[in-house]
Amino acid sequence: KKIALIAGGYTGEYEVSINSAQNIAAQLTSKGYHVYKILVNRDSWFYDGDSGKVEVDKNDFSLTINGEKVTFDAAFITIHGTPGEDGKMQGYLDMLGIPYNNCDAATSAITMNKAYTKAIVNGIRHLHTAKSIQLFGKDVHDVANISAQLKFPLFIKPNNGGSSVGMSKVHQPSELSAALEKAFKEDSQVLIEEFIKGREFSIGIAKLNNELRVLPATEIISSKEFFDYEAKYTPGVSQEITPANLTEEQQERVAAIVTEAYLRLNCKGMCRVDFILEENTDNFYFIEINTTPGQSANSLIPQQVRAAGMDLAEFYSTLVENASN
Ligand code: DAL
Ligand code: MG
Repeated sequence: KKIALIAGGYTGEYEVSINSAQNIAAQLTSKGYHVYKILVNRDSWFYDGDSGKVEVDKNDFSLTINGEKVTFDAAFITIHGTPGEDGKMQGYLDMLGIPYNNCDAATSAITMNKAYTKAIVNGIRHLHTAKSIQLFGKDVHDVANISAQLKFPLFIKPNNGGSSVGMSKVHQPSELSAALEKAFKEDSQVLIEEFIKGREFSIGIAKLNNELRVLPATEIISSKEFFDYEAKYTPGVSQEITPANLTEEQQERVAAIVTEAYLRLNCKGMCRVDFILEENTDNFYFIEINTTPGQSANSLIPQQVRAAGMDLAEFYSTLVENASN
């Protein structure tokens, strides 16, 4: 089978995507798939093959290699952020009838937006969400108003971002303006959330041959102020413990939350949900759901798949076989 592995994208997570693609390509190739890595940049989409770069024909998402037309049996999107995590690529593939193993266009678009996602998961039994305000434009923010409504410290996040790009933790009102400025550089919508003190966890979930499978949780211990871009991708700056040290009751509780979130958001394929387990209350607070979670060899999902005793190549190939529109 010929698989288009779609990577790159238009955001600060470009490099992360390239690393994800490298691992997925190796795993799928070991299963006998013909994997074509398609790099998506703003000015061109191309396949970087043995005989040089080949531009994608966007009319039908095909390549012409040595005079022969190549089309794909399925696509595997591993772009983090736009245009591969927010529904745009999904919608394009739907129009062409090319199956893919990621969430559909609507779910991808909603889950890319942290505030919209919170509105949908709110009310899931045992799930808590931090108090927050959403800002819709640079001109409407009012530091005094924000400070009156929310308790510091606060997290300032571009609403449609990933990998903590453009994110800040602020401890006092005087730091707000600079943090908002930074976030608005990434996005026209910004989410301001109260900081929840506790332990951070991330849990993968995937539908494999119509069966929902919650993966073992990972605990993230960052030596930085929070699990920022540097802590995420610099070896040694954070510790990731898979499977996490949770009680059986906590594991069952969080697995039920993850399953309910997946169902409510009508997810497909694999996703990963991030939480804070609050120190004093033992409550799980929802951070976000990622519909194209990182897949480099040491990323969280690969760690969790191995901890579950599954073979990563088998895991990816099942996802590819389950691809649909
Ligand atoms: N956004 C990064 C890639 C992740 O969630 O893994
Ligand atoms: Mg993310």
